[in-house]
Amino acid sequence: MNSLCHLPVKIAGIGAYVPDEVLDNARLEQMVETSDEWIVKRTGIRQRRIAAPDQATSDLAAEAAQAALRNADFPAKDVDAVIVCTCSPDHIFPSTACLVQAQIGAGNAFCYDLQAACSGFLFGTAQGASLITSGIAENVLVIGAETLSRFTDYTDRGSCILFGDGAGAVLLKKSDSESELLFAEMGSDGSRSGILNINAGGARNVASEETVREGLHYMHLDGRDVFKLAVSKLGELVESLPAKSGVDMNDISLIIPHQSNERIIRSLCQRAGLSEDSAFMNIDMLGNTSAASIPLAMEQAIREDQLQRGDIVLLLAFGGGVTWGSMLLRY
Ligand code: UT7
Repeated sequence: MNSLCHLPVKIAGIGAYVPDEVLDNARLEQMVETSDEWIVKRTGIRQRRIAAPDQATSDLAAEAAQAALRNADFPAKDVDAVIVCTCSPDHIFPSTACLVQAQIGAGNAFCYDLQAACSGFLFGTAQGASLITSGIAENVLVIGAETLSRFTDYTDRGSCILFGDGAGAVLLKKSDSESELLFAEMGSDGSRSGILNINAGGARNVASEETVREGLHYMHLDGRDVFKLAVSKLGELVESLPAKSGVDMNDISLIIPHQSNERIIRSLCQRAGLSEDSAFMNIDMLGNTSAASIPLAMEQAIREDQLQRGDIVLLLAFGGGVTWGSMLLRY
């Protein structure tokens, strides 16, 4: 059974960070054969943020984590665990989470990375909640952070128009109110790992002149296959949600989907029988930021009063692995 229900855990604070540099569609038109019209129509994206040359994933993650701690009015030294969800870590090891720990001064935490690509934040939140309800930790910083621009081939128009950099973080704590994690379902299918991956740089294909020459250190995306699988898997998750969770779709105040493609998100709302306004979207301004996209969107939704304490929010994700998941939180 890959679902869990009614864990007394709350989001005590949330923070976000995006780098300053904007890569808009007009600039991409100068780099590859594409057009603003095509990109907007097929993805909904108008611009993305790109990390500065001296910034890596840990720097973005640390900024978001500090914002979440300020939001919760909670000292870094009291953090019990730091989980960084990323598929664009600073290094193979040490973990990006350990680097974040040093930057923010969370000296009493245990720290590790979690790799579930675009589903990372959802998997990480489930794990953080489990650490808290099992008694292993009293509070957990869960951070989704990516600098996918570093692994993007800016000669491949099929993928380079999609991705942007950023980070979002939540501080999870035991809930003493109605806030709770109501439901989570997660899944994976490793037999489809080839449709979205970075082939070289690991133990299978060690970095070499040849791997660089062939561009195997860049992200490879079979866009159409990923699109179809994402629509079908996320559709199944949404359709089975009421029966599995016991929550009526009409009681959900907001859907925060991974920001992968506006067309995927619109089709999800249709499958759920909900209006397209039910889904929060900031893909136009940030593009696809992989594991960072859900916490970035949630932080904005809260800041803009689209998500309030007591509301039920549905998180949905699909990504490389392939991995997927749905999660219901009473915020
Ligand atoms: O975050 C993890 C999950 N990731 C995703 O969910 C991404 C899922 N995939 C997608 O979002 C879409 O598949 C893309 C946006 C990547 C591509 O859109 P599409 O509607 O699936 O296009 P396509 O790959 O089927 O290509 C349609 C046409 C092709 O031309 P022909 O063969 O019909 O002449 C492509 O060569 O569009 C062409 N094309 C482009 N044209 C202008 C592909 N990319 C571009 C481009 N600009 N950037």
